[in-house]
Amino acid sequence: MKSRRAFIKTVAAGSVAAGTMLNSKLLEASPIAYGPPPSGQPHALPDLPYAYDALEPYIDAETMKLHHDKHHQGYVNGLNKAEAELAKCRESKDYSLIQHWSRQLAFNGGGHWLHSMFWKTMAPNGKGGGGLPGGIVAEAIKDSFGDFDQFAAHFSAAAGAVEGSGWALLHFRYDDQKLVIMQAENQQKLSAWGSVPILGVDVWEHAYYIKYQNKRADYVKAWWNVVNWGQVEKNLLWILNKK
Ligand SMILES: [Fe+2]
Repeated sequence: MKSRRAFIKTVAAGSVAAGTMLNSKLLEASPIAYGPPPSGQPHALPDLPYAYDALEPYIDAETMKLHHDKHHQGYVNGLNKAEAELAKCRESKDYSLIQHWSRQLAFNGGGHWLHSMFWKTMAPNGKGGGGLPGGIVAEAIKDSFGDFDQFAAHFSAAAGAVEGSGWALLHFRYDDQKLVIMQAENQQKLSAWGSVPILGVDVWEHAYYIKYQNKRADYVKAWWNVVNWGQVEKNLLWILNKK
């Protein structure tokens, strides 16, 4: 029978090995959002994969600049702050603000992840953006919603009906291998466990108010013209290949 000291040593060595292995696998990088930050580094704002005006006329350059440079940066900062404060809680053993920082972790972590996915799942119209999905995404939509028009009508309705600020999201649900449409209030509420988004539209007012004012439905209608279905397919294939 191992001594307690030997047992701890073995477990510790295993943890290091597992951590290293996990990290190297993650470094293959999920294509869905931002991927892991460099080891030991804070989360960072990813670059937009195109110019601020690339999604014109559907999404205007001023909105894109503010949305990416200010709003998304704010979520990155908030996530780093929450993680630093939670580390302080562990060090000091003072958990009196645990609820606050846990909420901040979810809100800002959700914001960073969803915005990172959002930029990547859009592309200039005619240059990767717009049109209809093909391949496995088309098959999955048909399997889950009947046809593309039924899916698009359902998704647009969900986006239009989000109360306050939030998202409409297309999730892949692991257990029955179906696509499901969900709403998210703010960046994190109304999600169901066991599924992961592969596409989303941001319906916070900061995403559309400069160009569309209160006409959220017009913005969502325009957004379909810049959906990057090739990226959505990459997202889905990555999930399926990670089984
Ligand atoms: Fe946003």
